[in-house]
Amino acid sequence: MMILKSQELSRALRAQIKERAALFRQSKGRSPSLAVILVGQDPASQVYVRNKVAACEEVGFKSAHHELPENTDKAELRSLIEGLNADPTVDGILVQLPLPKHLSSDEVISWISPSKDPDALTVENQGLLFVGRPRVAPCTPSGVIELLKHYKISMAGKNAVVIGRSQIVGKPMAQLLLMENATVTIAHSKTADLQAVTSQADILVVAAGRPKMIQSQHVKKGAVVIDVGIHRTATGLCGDVDLESLAGHALAVSPVPGGVGPMTITMLLMNTLKLAESSFPRG
Ligand SMILES: NC(=O)c1ccc[n+]([C@@H]2O[C@H](COP(=O)([O-])OP(=O)(O)OC[C@H]3O[C@@H](n4cnc5c(N)ncnc54)[C@H](OP(=O)(O)O)[C@@H]3O)[C@@H](O)[C@H]2O)c1
Repeated sequence: MMILKSQELSRALRAQIKERAALFRQSKGRSPSLAVILVGQDPASQVYVRNKVAACEEVGFKSAHHELPENTDKAELRSLIEGLNADPTVDGILVQLPLPKHLSSDEVISWISPSKDPDALTVENQGLLFVGRPRVAPCTPSGVIELLKHYKISMAGKNAVVIGRSQIVGKPMAQLLLMENATVTIAHSKTADLQAVTSQADILVVAAGRPKMIQSQHVKKGAVVIDVGIHRTATGLCGDVDLESLAGHALAVSPVPGGVGPMTITMLLMNTLKLAESSFPRG
């Protein structure tokens, strides 16, 4: 069974991004830049934000980190985002989710200018993706497509099943697979017979958020399985797929950690770079 590790691909893509960022700097006189906003003190979010800021530095982007207190009100957050929208030296604005309960993530995301939305979460960017003309696509599913291409796993004509229908992973994942000419099915918590659906998949992408829920009986022999899930357990990280149970059964599986995870930040950098390159000069 092939283990679809992403370290080498991620390193190569980041080297490419670094080169393009240097060219951007030479011609425009400034670095591509990402503003990251964190509201509150959620420890997992603090780690994600630190990793994103460090990744920006590694490829020569400028990053600004805005940490706001838990009780930040709507008006204050909106004014920060609108200031960043109007700043021509800012290319990407990322609001770390989840937000504290008194703030609606849909509403907050709607304040971000779609031309500065590297997570591709605004309605405009989701719409562009769904009509097949993405400005940028959400980072995690974009990383899955890059990983499949890197391992030369063809998608055209294949039966692809995506478990999960979130805005950030499942739905854009299905759309990106469709754009690669796969025949796509989306399964979710109300799917009547999950095993009957997943066992038809040549390519199975699991983004359900349920530790080790997928085992060999769910998987067609010779299928490719991509595990998007991440769970912190007493014994370390695990995904939505029980990788060991697929040995000798699946053709290939992405591991957790070391599979989809590292690709997400790489695609965030790529999307920020694309936004910088595509909309200069910005008024
Ligand atoms: N690797 C990365 O960088 C990365 C990035 C983002 C997320 N993740 C991980 O990926 C997982 C999914 O994230 P998400 O944000 O998409 O989660 P989410 O918003 O909770 O969505 C989970 C989806 O899975 C479906 N689902 C839940 N239990 C199911 C079951 N037993 N059978 C079939 N479908 C089921 C849900 O169906 P309903 O719609 O019917 O409720 C929902 O559509 C999480 O573990 C998350 O930590 C990883």
